[in-house]
Amino acid sequence: MNVVVLAGGLSTERDVSFKSGEMVAKALRENGHKALTLDVFMGYGAEGDDVSDIFDRAEEASIKVETIPTEAPDIEAIKASRPGDSKSFFGPNVIKICSAADIVFMALHGADGENGKVQAAFDLFGIKYTGNGYLSCAIAMDKGATKQYLANCDVPFPMGFSLKKDTYKEELAKVEVKYPVVVKPACGGSSIGVTIVNSEDEMQKALDDAFFWEDEVVVEEYIKGREFSCGVMEGKALPVIEIAPKIGFYDYKNKYAAGSAVETCPAEIPADKTAEMQLYAERVAEGLGLDTYSRMDFLMKENGEIYCLEANTLPGMTPTSLMPQEAAVIGMNYNELCEELIRMSLAKYE
Ligand SMILES: Nc1ncnc2c1ncn2[C@@H]1O[C@H](COP(=O)(O)OP(=O)(O)O)[C@@H](O)[C@H]1O
Ligand SMILES: [Mg+2]
Repeated sequence: MNVVVLAGGLSTERDVSFKSGEMVAKALRENGHKALTLDVFMGYGAEGDDVSDIFDRAEEASIKVETIPTEAPDIEAIKASRPGDSKSFFGPNVIKICSAADIVFMALHGADGENGKVQAAFDLFGIKYTGNGYLSCAIAMDKGATKQYLANCDVPFPMGFSLKKDTYKEELAKVEVKYPVVVKPACGGSSIGVTIVNSEDEMQKALDDAFFWEDEVVVEEYIKGREFSCGVMEGKALPVIEIAPKIGFYDYKNKYAAGSAVETCPAEIPADKTAEMQLYAERVAEGLGLDTYSRMDFLMKENGEIYCLEANTLPGMTPTSLMPQEAAVIGMNYNELCEELIRMSLAKYE
């Protein structure tokens, strides 16, 4: 098959996405496909270029990446670096090339890519893609909306509330905040803008940090406990993985700097706790309509209480990412996983 592995974009997880994209493309080539890694924002060549033979030189035409920087990328600089004055999110030739592919493998992470907008556009262009549909993605992207939408699904989430940039001061004055709390952008990812706030004097800085990224932030009770994640494929939970950062919480650096967190899969917790977490993960996937694949994040207190933090609709896809590690435990290697994601996604179009 001719496959576009779509990566990059303008989200804070741009660099992570390139890494996913590169590894997915390599696996797909080993599986016999012609896979082209494309930056959705920068595109390929100039608008109007002849790209009709692009899949025949897919490897050469793919973007090349180095290691993931430990800092989040400078998005404004990336925006400014694209030649021309197009206002489109889609770079030169992206729609043309994606339309010519048998399927687009979504290796995007974060904002545009994970929030359903690209999926909605592709639906209208008649482009097939891997992963979930636009509405599920849009709800899952917003941590406040996710909680509201799943209010009747019997999944425990940390208690909390959302704040808007324009009105947060008045809103905050009306509630009594019980510290510690976690402040995070409603739609962020990779822990960017997330702060654990221990007392009122730390609150303003945390809000400023989160509002720097977005106009809506979530404030929720801090759950002290161990951290887990659980992937779901076609409605069925994978083994649970535990993530134990060596220092601090699971922030951007601990997520992407090799060796900074200990990951254990299957997680070493009692079987009933594993089953409970898997059940919650399946309920979230079902409730949000995440019918292909997704990965839910959890915290578990010392007393065994489990809390779901969020649903990820395009989980990281490097071979050392959490979901590929979970798949490996059930005997599905990375190349097989990539193939399986294509299979289940194409099945939706039949
Ligand atoms: N309510 C909470 N209590 C304790 N830690 C939290 C809480 N919410 C988030 N965290 C920490 O911040 C990290 C990122 O939060 P998460 O909600 O998963 O957002 P994202 O991964 O999209 O940035 C989590 O992996 C966890 O380490
Ligand atoms: Mg998370």
